[in-house]
Amino acid sequence: MLDKDLQPSLEVAEQSKYIAQMRADNELYFTEQGVRRRAFVLTFGCQQNEADSEKIAGMAVEMGYDITDTPEDADLIMVNTCAIREHAEQKALSIVGQYKHLKAKKPSLVIGMCGCMVVQEHRKDDIKFRYPYVDFIFGTSSLYRFPELLCKKLAKGKRLYEIEEKLYPVSEGLPVRRASDYRAWVSIMYGCNNFCSYCIVPYVRGRERSRKPAYIVDEVSQLVREGYRDITLLGQNVNSYGKDLEDGYDFADLLAELDRIPGEYRLRFMTSHPKDASRKLIDVMASSEHIAHQFHLPMQSGSDEILKRMNRRYDTAKYGEIVRYMREKMPDVTVTSDIIVGFPGESEDDFAGTLHMLETVRFDMLYSFIYSPRKGTPAASMEDQIPKAVQSERFSRLLKLQEQIGLEKNQAYVGKTLTVLCDGVSKGNAALYSGRTEGNKIAFFEGLPEDVGKFVEVTIERADPYAFYGKKKEN
Ligand code: SAH
Ligand code: SF4
Ligand code: F3S
Repeated sequence: MLDKDLQPSLEVAEQSKYIAQMRADNELYFTEQGVRRRAFVLTFGCQQNEADSEKIAGMAVEMGYDITDTPEDADLIMVNTCAIREHAEQKALSIVGQYKHLKAKKPSLVIGMCGCMVVQEHRKDDIKFRYPYVDFIFGTSSLYRFPELLCKKLAKGKRLYEIEEKLYPVSEGLPVRRASDYRAWVSIMYGCNNFCSYCIVPYVRGRERSRKPAYIVDEVSQLVREGYRDITLLGQNVNSYGKDLEDGYDFADLLAELDRIPGEYRLRFMTSHPKDASRKLIDVMASSEHIAHQFHLPMQSGSDEILKRMNRRYDTAKYGEIVRYMREKMPDVTVTSDIIVGFPGESEDDFAGTLHMLETVRFDMLYSFIYSPRKGTPAASMEDQIPKAVQSERFSRLLKLQEQIGLEKNQAYVGKTLTVLCDGVSKGNAALYSGRTEGNKIAFFEGLPEDVGKFVEVTIERADPYAFYGKKKEN
């Protein structure tokens, strides 16, 4: 629900007739069958997709569906896809392949696909010809049209392929069904203008579009009022926030405004591009009350030559300088990064540059990826693609070095007491609870059911490269 002065976008309001139609149909089904129709939403990819899926689930609930975790029980399956690497695409296609059997058992099952993968022409064709049991697909910027497409599909019985040619405006006022009661995603902008030479995102998510600050402030205020404790602002490059709003209001201004919302909560953001991570932004973080001292700043490579070929528009000196300033202003800051290994033309020297940067910057954590050629991006047609065996060997060396650094970094916390937002019983070890520190690291401890969703104090007793183990302080 929006503040009364903020209106939903016109195109969202226009969907209400389809929502009403679907709800009536689903109510009729409930009256006749005694059970509600159920929807299952499967998500691949980044937090942006997680956030979109929460809107898909929100719309499904408005249309009268119950949400289920089991595809076998579903009357509607939505698969929200990712295109960032080949593996993500293959996984989605393989799972959708398995749904063929579900449809054979229950012919009334409706299967839809959306997200970054299906926007690509060749994938759209793949689905059209090789996955005839997929009923409808829509692209990333027509998300809000989900009720309309579902309704039309059911009315006409024909398959529907709605991949936008034009970019629809930013939609406000979509219902959201959040996966958690205390952790929330808030998209502040959509799309990307950077065209890093390896990356598919600008092609599948379109140009940068920022939400108006008032809508974001309203959403975050409401989340805080509802008891959300950990709120992450999302965008492919949050530092570009506001550039399309034309009044000079930037990301640092937005953070400063959000930080003034009173309450007990943490604010995070991702992702920041080093080319425009400003001192102003770091100053706002350092003097804030709620912004977590955690910075995810993807470096991608430690070779200036490779950074140039990646079209990243910063060099290792500039990168090092940002991290230095960050640590000067926030000595407790946690710094994490993304690295791509085996980019076309990466020599042994270039790779040594990356290892060297790891040793000098000393990241708390790394998300490392083997380069995956994406059709239609400049890097995919560059010469000197690196053989798989070389990529894998470099990848293991990178992981090994980071493991050592991560261990040393984490061991330095032993004996300290950290504030941890408790997530519940650990998935891997039912005897322990787990939660996230301000730096977004995982901590395991002996907790209680009533700790879930609350901040607890944990004294760190032991650490490995990926997590802390500690004892909860009794109040
Ligand atoms: N907008 C964010 C990143 C989004 S994608 C940023 O610019 O930092 C998340 C990560 O996936 C990237 O940082 C990059 O490390 C990785 N990635 C993107 N394209 C890739 C590709 N073609 N192959 C391998 N990794 C890739
Ligand atoms: Fe991709 Fe670069 Fe945009 Fe990040 S900034 S989404 S890596 S093009
Ligand atoms: Fe994947 Fe799209 Fe996110 S390509 S990483 S889901 S923006």
